[in-house]
Amino acid sequence: GTVYLKSVKQSDAIEEVERYIAEKKAEINPRYRLQYHVAPPVGWMNDPNGFSYFRGEYHLFYQFYPYDSQWGPMHWGHVSSPNLVDWKQLPTALVPEEEMCFSGSAVVKDDTMILMYTGRLTTDVEPFFNETQYLAFSDDGVVFHKYEGNPVLSFTPNGSPDFRDPKVWKHEGYWYVVIGSKTLDERGRVLLYRSPDMVNWEFLSIIGESTGGMGYMWECPDFFEIKGKHILLMSPQGIEPQGDRYKNTHQTGYIIGSFNYETYEFVPESDFQEIDFGHDFYATQTTEVDGKRILIAWFGMWDVPYPEDVDGWAGAMTIFRELDLVANRVTMKPVEAMTDLRTETLFEGEFSEDGIIEFGKTGELIVKGDLSKNIELEIKGSNGGGQVIVRWDTAVRKVVVDREGDVRQVEWLPLKSESWRIFLDSSSLELFCGEGEVVFSTRVYPDGDWYVTNRSPQALDTVAYKLRRSVP
Ligand code: FRU
Repeated sequence: GTVYLKSVKQSDAIEEVERYIAEKKAEINPRYRLQYHVAPPVGWMNDPNGFSYFRGEYHLFYQFYPYDSQWGPMHWGHVSSPNLVDWKQLPTALVPEEEMCFSGSAVVKDDTMILMYTGRLTTDVEPFFNETQYLAFSDDGVVFHKYEGNPVLSFTPNGSPDFRDPKVWKHEGYWYVVIGSKTLDERGRVLLYRSPDMVNWEFLSIIGESTGGMGYMWECPDFFEIKGKHILLMSPQGIEPQGDRYKNTHQTGYIIGSFNYETYEFVPESDFQEIDFGHDFYATQTTEVDGKRILIAWFGMWDVPYPEDVDGWAGAMTIFRELDLVANRVTMKPVEAMTDLRTETLFEGEFSEDGIIEFGKTGELIVKGDLSKNIELEIKGSNGGGQVIVRWDTAVRKVVVDREGDVRQVEWLPLKSESWRIFLDSSSLELFCGEGEVVFSTRVYPDGDWYVTNRSPQALDTVAYKLRRSVP
């Protein structure tokens, strides 16, 4: 039998949101609109939510505010895909009622999709908010009903009101969830709970906690196994910049370790490492399908400008990436299906010094140079606007992504391949080095088409493709 009751309020509100979206869509200025990255139909997007596989399709939800291209009371937007590249827009899944619908995840139980998300309430007593965990259900993966018994999980061991972004998984007959929180003296931590039925939860342990210097709040935790190790992936707020590291407003990274399901203890075996070194990357979420661990992230960052916001939308997702654990680090490669986007080959062979490859609004570029010499690519709009210089600096053996003087850089020791794979979309660049051991995700806003110039003191082995549109 069905364990939930239909919420009439939510379905009425969804029709209203959908009417508004349909009307506003016509007003969007398409100049920066991404062609193969998931983005909101109108309005604002932040974190990926509920990334899952249900009845033969991938489902992705996202933090969504339809009524402005700025953050506002959170809804859950919804898209689905048969293959992780071709996406279609589905009706908004959750609308805020008493609670704002903050980040969370999805699981499938008895052929029902269950969303677990943070309900954020505004209160009139200090600290003026309260965060607890809610459930919503769907029989068809399209229409969602909120659980009448919400919230189902409302206690932190220290009473902290910061208690958000549940990531649920199943292991041997129990549901487990990790949730982001903090200590009373403002150190980020991740809490672990368990339930036999998704409704009744018991606290198990603290999976990780900053000893100081690792941020005041850990958002969007994820916890999963690759090759026998457990990875704690999360987005700490408030780590201070240190040299090349931690230059964004907030960070996303991971700790590798071992986990024991009898003691609920996670023993770290590595330091915290950033998982992406670009300017715009936050709030990751993973899911496992056919033994592959796939990651998606918000292609954005808090408190930075979004030049597309005057066009009626703001924010996007990165491309989907497959994770691996190699030589004590988590690598990220574009999912295999990304090659399905290739239409025509624009260039193949020796990309000469000062040569130019002209793309349209999209492209994929695979380049390989002699790493004993410098490499430099200038990537810019045919009519100016946004520009990125991508560089290999032999003196320091670093890959450098210089967006109009705002530099991100990191040491690169190729595991095997010495190629770079660069994805360009209308207002974005993603660079995957080698086997995905170093990755940069950066939004950039060119005028016109993409022009890539080889400014290296060497010719480069190159293949360049045009990519097709795959999102609405
Ligand atoms: C991370 C985050 C989450 C929260 C959501 C609100 O970017 O701050 O912790 O659930 O965004 O939109």
